[in-house]
Amino acid sequence: QARRTLSVQCVAAPEQVTTRVQRNKNIGKLQAGYLFPEIARRRRAHQEAKPDAKIISLGIGDTTEPIPPFIVEAMKKASEGLGTLEGYSGYGAEQGKGELREAVCKRLYEKVGRKPSEIFVSDGSKCDIGRLQLMFGADMTVALQDPAYPVYVDSSVIMGMTGGHNGTGFEGVQYMVCRPENDFFPDLSKAPRTDLIFFCSPNNPTGAAATRAQLTSLVEFARANGSIIVYDAAYALYISDDNCPKSIYEIPGAEEVAIETCSFSKYAGFTGVRLGWTVVPEQLRYADGTPLIQDFNRIMTTVFNGASIIAQAGGLACLQDEGWAQMLQLVEFYKENAAILRKTFQEMGFTVYGGENAPYVWVGFPGQKSWDVFAEILEKCDIVTTPGSGFGPGGEGFVRASAFGHRESVLEAVERFKAVYGNKQ
Ligand code: MLT
Repeated sequence: QARRTLSVQCVAAPEQVTTRVQRNKNIGKLQAGYLFPEIARRRRAHQEAKPDAKIISLGIGDTTEPIPPFIVEAMKKASEGLGTLEGYSGYGAEQGKGELREAVCKRLYEKVGRKPSEIFVSDGSKCDIGRLQLMFGADMTVALQDPAYPVYVDSSVIMGMTGGHNGTGFEGVQYMVCRPENDFFPDLSKAPRTDLIFFCSPNNPTGAAATRAQLTSLVEFARANGSIIVYDAAYALYISDDNCPKSIYEIPGAEEVAIETCSFSKYAGFTGVRLGWTVVPEQLRYADGTPLIQDFNRIMTTVFNGASIIAQAGGLACLQDEGWAQMLQLVEFYKENAAILRKTFQEMGFTVYGGENAPYVWVGFPGQKSWDVFAEILEKCDIVTTPGSGFGPGGEGFVRASAFGHRESVLEAVERFKAVYGNKQ
């Protein structure tokens, strides 16, 4: 047997150098890590301290149930096709497959006047929000719901649209407070004009879905001020209340002032598969008359190469009758989880919001700091939640419980909550 000898030469490690490149000063303005990795870090620390603890996560809104069979079959077929000459394909259109754009439009937007050419298929809403920010550039003024999904504010900070953090929030950002006192809808009579308004309904984290009347006033506000609404509808299919629109385009005139972004993540369990879309109506124009759709198309064709064709095959299946029915069942399952959590907290005497039109339950702990409550629940119940203040100053005093989880985990969480907080009143 031949033996090979390996000769290793030891050289002294080069001295560490620091580049002469200045850090993006806007990233330096961000306070801590992005919310969910920070929560994951605390969870790991808890697990290390209590290795036997069986931690339940009601923290990040990440889906847990298998993707419905009709949809999985379509993705299987698409991936197997890639292994054949006939089924192979390379780059697709950056805007998404024509067939999928048509199917999204037919199922969700045709009745509200949108066209397939206005629908841009992507790898998800979060990514699209980043690309929208790239399109808008640094010179925009921004308003957002407070509390809100952290991506809106963090991406605005990174782009340079804001000043530094003043201990409460970022300078220059208009935080539109949404709390029980105002029915979780901002007082627009007091809101100053901004170029952009990020608005999420049903809201993450509060679970509040805006009514038709509320959205009408939002659209009127944007029209009167010449603002653009970036409407995040990622949870729209969780809406039960007929009085709450599932798309901003149900409101007349929205097509001239609103972009809508949405995703299959929370509908079909696609958080890992990655597929979403953004609607940019032809009628939406900048002050100089340039249609936004033209610029968004430029962004997508420049920094995006189209969503995975396997994911797109899955998306197409979601929109066919059988896939649609299976997907709605999945949504229903998570809504039942939400109802279980909501009822539990109510029965224990907490003030609870959300959970009826959204997969998030928003629980009040008046007078307490959200991070303290988060830490206490983790310590006493081995349950991860999300501290309300992580979504903005307006979320202080609340924690969010996510309904994404296996049923047995949710039921086990209920038992643990009752054991610790059951005697609240
Ligand atoms: C959340 O927990 O708020 C969501 O999972 C975040 C996301 O959709 O990116």
